[in-house]
Parts: sequence; structure tokens; C-alpha cells
Amino acid sequence: MCGIVGFSGVRPAAPVLLDGLKKLEYRGYDSAGIAIMGDAGISVNKVTGRIANLCEKTHDGADVPGFTGVGHTRWATHGAPTEENAHPHLSNDGRFAIVHNGIIENYIALREELIKDGFTFQSETDTEVIVHLLEKYYKGNVRDALIKTTNRLRGSYALGVICTEQPEKIFAVRESSPLIIGVGVEENYFASDVTALVAYTRNAIYMDDGEYAELTKDAVKVFDCTGSEIKKEVTRITWDVQAAEKGGYEHFMLKEIMEQPAAIKATIAPRLKDGNIFFEEFDISADELKKIRKIVITACGSAYYAGCSGKYALEKLCHIPVEVELASELRYSDPLIDKHTLLIVISQSGETADTIAAMKECKERGAKTLAIVNVVGSSIAKLADYTLYTWAGPEIAVATTKGFTTQLAVLYLLALSFAEKLECITEEEYTKYMGELHTLPRHIQQAIDMNSKIPKLAKKYHKSSSLFFIGRNTDYAVALEGALKMKEISYLHAEAYAAGELKHGTIALIEDHQPVVALCCNPSIMEKTLSNIVEVKARGAEVLALTFRNNQKILSTADDFLFIPNVDAVFSAAIEIIPLQLLAYYVAKENGCDIDKPKNLAKSVTVE
Ligand code: AGP
Repeated sequence: MCGIVGFSGVRPAAPVLLDGLKKLEYRGYDSAGIAIMGDAGISVNKVTGRIANLCEKTHDGADVPGFTGVGHTRWATHGAPTEENAHPHLSNDGRFAIVHNGIIENYIALREELIKDGFTFQSETDTEVIVHLLEKYYKGNVRDALIKTTNRLRGSYALGVICTEQPEKIFAVRESSPLIIGVGVEENYFASDVTALVAYTRNAIYMDDGEYAELTKDAVKVFDCTGSEIKKEVTRITWDVQAAEKGGYEHFMLKEIMEQPAAIKATIAPRLKDGNIFFEEFDISADELKKIRKIVITACGSAYYAGCSGKYALEKLCHIPVEVELASELRYSDPLIDKHTLLIVISQSGETADTIAAMKECKERGAKTLAIVNVVGSSIAKLADYTLYTWAGPEIAVATTKGFTTQLAVLYLLALSFAEKLECITEEEYTKYMGELHTLPRHIQQAIDMNSKIPKLAKKYHKSSSLFFIGRNTDYAVALEGALKMKEISYLHAEAYAAGELKHGTIALIEDHQPVVALCCNPSIMEKTLSNIVEVKARGAEVLALTFRNNQKILSTADDFLFIPNVDAVFSAAIEIIPLQLLAYYVAKENGCDIDKPKNLAKSVTVE
């Protein structure tokens, strides 16, 4: 959940570290710090709150001279977000400073041992044990000390270390937390995410678990856990600097909503050739597909809701039973999964701890694993048998938008490709759904353009104490994601209900002026949802309906409207969510919320 950076070069380190931390701030933003190797040893600066405070404290880094350093932006797990608990942490002898992303599970036992050894602790963090272990094991060779230290750790860590004995070097280690090396000219870097590197270099080395790196201004060396040097491939980063910047938009979230037509096109187009669907990275034959008895989709948060929506397309088109499981539940559920199960793992970041754990559990039981991931080289992408990337580009806002819709796009491609291989649909149907996929980017653009009244609607609904989202089937799955968007960025209480369930309890909550967002985009069950709208209206609700422009019955019943173009319900979820993303965005804006960095949240949830 935290972000780390490291730099060694011929120019001052602090401004580069601060710039990198700003790019990583979406990963955690409750405190931050940098450690710079100066002439008189290591100088540490820490603040609570945002990177802006650290820039202010250090005058944009000008107060801390030095050419080597490490930095950290924190999402607190062990210990409150105070300066003491902020990273970097120093060893008692002042020789080492470290930054850490991850969790050390056995830190209590290690802390007790180190206290008995005479070390004193300055913080409540799990991280601090690492720096004291380094001091304990240091006998003149930092690499040896790091290997001995990490051999004692249980949990996940990406570590950045500087040591006064080798002032020109930065050290890094990776175990179950992302870490990427940037290879520059007369300077080298490491960071939790490529977004912190693209302004400086396009050449990256993706570190694997159990690898150690040593970087100076002119050399990058990577070692395995025995200390032997290993050769690593340098990969070209395709994201450009603008992709990680706001580009004139007030918030990343709005920029990312607007980028969806292009992101969907980038995800779909390369996989459609001559009227067929190709997955270079996943070429499953019809015979292999026939052996799959069920598909299990696992993920967290919005990625889970993408799975809930995708289930409808997969089951309808390929007639394979699909179960969608929250990864945090699946991992502890002793799941009925074997080699006849295809496990689809969905994750924007590719680093979500629960999703990784659920995936490992299912792999052990023999499932074939197919990952749908946005971040290239992420842990989930590395772990999966097959990976299909969503080419959404960097998603910076904590609330996912283009991550979600590109996940749906890949699920739609899979559904149609499986259906064709299994001969579950006619040629006519295949052609029709191919057409829907081709036009998906255009329909998403239309959904953006048709809803220019949303800022006005937000002025009406932003003061509500709660919002209900209702729908059936795919509409219900989208309602779940719509309600989550509203909760996480506007802090309004928002709950999604399967419309048919209202009368089993929830309708008791409907009273005068209660806003109900009713999703009515599936003609086969429209009449049923219409009845639910009538029921809640009869009890005083104010209904904001999401539907087609020509849907007269709904238009004459509801109070306000969000629109989507007329599309087939099988692939409509990716379009339906657009007005709901915009509604959440403008409601949050009305409420003066910090839209890109909502309170208590972080983009990448690398802790359980
Ligand atoms: C969505 O807006 C949330 N930020 C969150 O639910 C997110 O989708 C979830 O944490 C899963 O993340 P992942 O896709 O990176 O695995």
C-alpha cells in the first residue's frame, strides 16, 4: 500500500525522490519521508500528510544535498500516521536507512529479540525491525547483511536501503511487493511503480521475488538469494509521461473516465482480426475448453464487480457455470476447485494481497489460472498460467474507472471466443456480438456525451444522507459498482440491492425523498424493474433512472434520468457504469471531497 523510490546519480537526489513520491502518492498518502546520503552521514526528513508537506519542509529538496537516497509515501498499517512511524527508519548506529512497502508478519518476535539484544525502537512499525537486523548482521558487507536479514523475515516486502559505508549505492530487495528498477544515463532508480520512473527513463527491469539489487549511478546489478549475480532483461516502458499526468483535467478520475473509449479500443482492437478473436497470450483449444467444468472468477472490490457482470456474459454465451468469489473469502473457504476449474483472476494493480492468496490456494488445488491485469510485470501477472492485459494505461485515481471497464472488455472477448470455440452460438449471433464489441468504444463515448446534465443532478442529490441503487441481473451487478463508486469518493452511504429483493426487507427504509437510482437497461426484465420503481415511488422515493432515451415507460415514471445508447444487454455493463461514474464524481465534487485520494483508501491493497 506504500510507495518507495530510490535514486543514485550525478544530480541532487532529493528533488528526483520527491517527484517520484508525488507519482506514487496514490499508493498511500498519510505520511512521507526521504533519507539522503550527505557528507556528514544520512539525513532524514519526515512529515505527516501529503508529499506537498515534505516539499515544503525541505524547500523542494534544496535543503538536503546529496546524490543518493531513498523515499517513502505511507499508508499506515502498524502504528498511526505520525512522523515517528513514517519511513525512512534509521539503525541505532546511524549507518543504515530503510524504506519498506509490505508487511512483516513475524515482527513482534523479532522486536522482542532485538530489544533483548539492546536495540532501541523509535516507532511502532513492523518495518523498524528490518533496519536493526541489518545493523545486527552487518559485518562489513551490506549484501550479506541484507540476505541474512531477509532470511529472518516472514511476509511481504519491497525494501530500499542506503548505508554510510557505501555512500554512492542504493540497495533494493523484493519479496511479494512490486519493485522496478529504472536504468538511466549516469543515474539509476528503483520504484514501486513505473509511473515514478517514466519522467526519467523508459528502460526498466522488473525484479522478481527473492532478488536483491545494487545500484550506483553507472551500474545496476541484480543477485539471487545466494548472492550470485543474475542477468535480467531490460524492458521498454510503453507508457508515456502524459499518461501519468492530469493533462488539463481537474482530477485523474475525470481524465480516466474520459479515457475509457480509447482504453477499451486499445484492449479490444489488437485482439480482433479478420472477424475473429485472438489471444496471443492464451491459446486454449476447443478440446481443452470442453474439459472445463466450471469457471471461478476471483477478485476484490470493483474487480470483483467486474467479475459479477462478466458472469452474465460468460454463462449466457458459453453455457459454462461461473462462480464469482471475493478473494478475501475464497482464500479461507476450502474451495471445491480442481484441475477442471478455470480460475479467472481479475486485478487492475496485479498486487492485491487477498487476490494473490486466493490464486495461490486455487493453483495448489490444480486450477488453471488466467489473469486479467493492467500492470505489466505485476505479481499476479507473473503468478498466472496465462495473462491477458487490459491496456488501460496507468490508472492513478484510487477509484477505478477505466480499469473496471477494460476488465469487462476482456471478459466479453473471452465469453465470445469461448462460445465460438464451444459452438454454443450461431454464426448470426457471433456476428452480432462481434459488432457489439467493435462499437463498444463508440457507445462508451456516447454514454459520456449523453449525460451532460449530471453536474446539475449532482447538485440535487449530493445532500442526501443515503442513496439506493437497484437493478436486476446485469443491472444489479452494475448497481453494486455504482454504489461502491459513490461510497468511496463522496462518502455518501450508498447501497445496491437486487430490485426483486426490496420487498424482502429493504423497502422498509424507503421514505419521502429517499433517492433511488434504478438501472433499467435490460429489456428482458424491464417490466419487473419498472414495478419496483412504482413500488418505491408509492412510498415517496425520488427515482433517478438509468435507461435508454426512447424508453417511454421509464421516462414517464421516474423523476430524473441518466442515459445510455440502445445496446444489447449482454455487453451493456461497460456502458451502464459510465453515467454512474460521472454521478459519483460530480456528487463528490459538490461535497468538496478529495476525489483522487479518498480518505482511508489506497490504490493498491497489498495487505490482507
Ligand atoms: C475501486 O474503485 C477500488 N479502489 C477497489 O475496490 C479496487 O477495485 C480493489 O481494491 C481491487 O484492486 P485491484 O483491481 O488492483 O486488485
